[in-house]
Amino acid sequence: MSQTLDRPAPTTDPAATRIDAWLADFERALVTRDVDRAASMFATTSFWRDLVSFTWNITTVEGRAGVADLLRATVEHTDPHGFRTTEAPSEADGVTSAWIEFETAVGRGRGHLRLMGEQGAWTLLTSLYELTGHEEPLSERRPMGAEHGANPDRVTWLEAREAEAAELGRTRQPYVVVVGGGQGGIALGARLRQLGVPHVIIERNARAGDSWRKRYKSLCLHDPVWYDHLPYLDFPKNWPVFSPKDKIGDWLEMYTKVMEINYWDSTTCTSATYDEAAGEWEVVVERAGEQLVLRPKQLVLATGMSGKPHVPVIPGQDVFAGEQHHSAQHPGPDAYRGKQAVVIGSNNSAHDICAALWEGGADVTMVQRSSTHIVKSDSLMEIGLKDLYSEQAVAAGMTTHKADMTFASLPYRIMHTFQIPVYDAIRERDADFYARLEQAGFLLDYGDDDSGLFMKYLRRGSGYYIDVGAAELVADGKVKLVHGAVRELTEHGAVLADGTELAADLVVYATGYGSMNGWAADLISQEVADKVGKVWGLGSDTTKDPGPWEGEQRNMWKPTQQEALWFHGGNLHQSRHYSLYLALQLKARMEAIPTPVYALAEVHHLA
Ligand SMILES: Cc1cc2nc3c(=O)[nH]c(=O)nc-3n(C[C@H](O)[C@H](O)[C@H](O)COP(=O)(O)OP(=O)(O)OC[C@H]3O[C@@H](n4cnc5c(N)ncnc54)[C@H](O)[C@@H]3O)c2cc1C
Ligand SMILES: NC(=O)c1ccc[n+]([C@@H]2O[C@H](COP(=O)([O-])OP(=O)(O)OC[C@H]3O[C@@H](n4cnc5c(N)ncnc54)[C@H](OP(=O)(O)O)[C@@H]3O)[C@@H](O)[C@H]2O)c1
Repeated sequence: MSQTLDRPAPTTDPAATRIDAWLADFERALVTRDVDRAASMFATTSFWRDLVSFTWNITTVEGRAGVADLLRATVEHTDPHGFRTTEAPSEADGVTSAWIEFETAVGRGRGHLRLMGEQGAWTLLTSLYELTGHEEPLSERRPMGAEHGANPDRVTWLEAREAEAAELGRTRQPYVVVVGGGQGGIALGARLRQLGVPHVIIERNARAGDSWRKRYKSLCLHDPVWYDHLPYLDFPKNWPVFSPKDKIGDWLEMYTKVMEINYWDSTTCTSATYDEAAGEWEVVVERAGEQLVLRPKQLVLATGMSGKPHVPVIPGQDVFAGEQHHSAQHPGPDAYRGKQAVVIGSNNSAHDICAALWEGGADVTMVQRSSTHIVKSDSLMEIGLKDLYSEQAVAAGMTTHKADMTFASLPYRIMHTFQIPVYDAIRERDADFYARLEQAGFLLDYGDDDSGLFMKYLRRGSGYYIDVGAAELVADGKVKLVHGAVRELTEHGAVLADGTELAADLVVYATGYGSMNGWAADLISQEVADKVGKVWGLGSDTTKDPGPWEGEQRNMWKPTQQEALWFHGGNLHQSRHYSLYLALQLKARMEAIPTPVYALAEVHHLA
């Protein structure tokens, strides 16, 4: 029953007493299958977010009715028990918070609980972290590596790796094929290796890390190192705060090797078809001029949410005499010194590219169609990320795991209420900066409800620039700014909707990316893409994230309407954290552990 692991009960700490009593009552209600009693222990306004432990889904339920519904569907087979705290609870502003652990019929879970005064649970996070009997070979369970003694049939580590590489996909089928070997596919590959799931990661590039290397040459990550660690292996302490793109490429390549990921580079997936009867995919790949058919039970598309360039169709693209390319193909400024460049778009890619072109001696014009959220990198680090992902956080004992779980413990429905004050503070701190940008004619926003960058990212994956210097160039007029849509291209330039003509030798479409289910359409079929629907977004009914409310990111890391098809990706933080839940779902299926899915999301939008 409930107890504090590192401090023997009984306790005199009122916060611990309150949490322990709640956990004991909750457990009693669950063990006796008294769903109504368990639901009544939640506040009227409350949220229970489950990552795979009860629901075999990533889902959030709201209020007592939501809790009761979830439990009615799951409590019998989940058989949850052993709820306990893992460290002393804390108390602030009438909310008592605790880190918890528990067990289920098939695994072990971790979570977080917030009690709101006497009203009961306000937020509960439950998550599965390991399957009983399938624990990862870590720490005291790590492999021996060497085989001591004498063995005439000795197989070395290298021989075993080579044999696996020779067999997989030829004489032995992988259980999982992951299409896409960027950071997403790589992180998932590491988890699958740890869990003993036969897998192959298919990557069309020649080397792991190339998806970063091939981006424009000035690119550095905008997220700091503490946010970016990969599973199992943190960046070393000398790693720069903001990784240059080629350096992160090298890290991913090294990681792929040392984590023993079955990584097929220079291999392109050309099609995939699900055979319902056989319960397996037929995945066609081209590898070194050879066509191979893989037959995995599960298929993961980790092809990148910023991987499908969106290039608008503009009249005159065929007559334009200069160069034109999407930001994903933009090489950098070297060939454009003294040239006139028009960059369409006003978000992250547009700013990065404009700044580099300006530094490289080009005459640069940015075309802004609608408003953009800009936040200075320093301010974001200082006010937005410091408590969870910073050197100060590390010094205060914050671990990456705890930071990830803290972030995960805030239900998406109310996350914006925590974010709005952050961006209010940033607006105040950087008021002069924003005023100068507005004076220069730049159209600013802070999100539809002023909740800033993270919410924009979660809702639409676009619409902002983390300022590392380019905004000053716009404010100073060094990068010229014009407004509106581009009506047409002529032989020597671009014409805006209001008739303004811009001479150009180069047009860059920094116009963003398409929904990830476009990959399903390309590789599988339009029918399956439509069946699965839009990928990403919360259904917040804000710009580019149409309702209805979903509660979680659409289709990410969880079962989709297409059996055995999964989507994985996102930023480094998401790839790290959510790859665990995806890997556990795949492992459970491989081991034939029952995985009844609660509340499979309906499809409301096609793309
Ligand atoms: C310019 C830019 C900067 C970014 N900066 C940051 C940042 O600072 N911090 C952050 O956390 N995130 C950042 N992101 C967002 C995100 O982290 C990156 O897009 C990241 O690369 C996503 O990783 P991924 O593995 O999901 O997708 P990708 O890195 O896009 O990898 C997908 C892979 O799939 C492969 N592929 C696609 N189709 C096939 C096929 N048919 N067969 C075989 N292989 C295929 C591609 O070659 C590619 O390597 C940035 C994105 C962009 C565009
Ligand atoms: N260093 C970094 O960390 C970094 C750098 C670059 C990108 N990224 C990431 O990559 C992702 C994508 O960013 P992004 O900047 O490439 O794309 P984005 O945020 O989707 O921005 C696209 C821009 O193009 C404009 N646009 C689209 N179609 C247009 C059209 N037909 N005519 C005129 N303008 C048009 C959009 O305007 P509307 O708003 O009017 O549609 C918007 O300004 C984000 O997740 C971002 O964080 C990160």
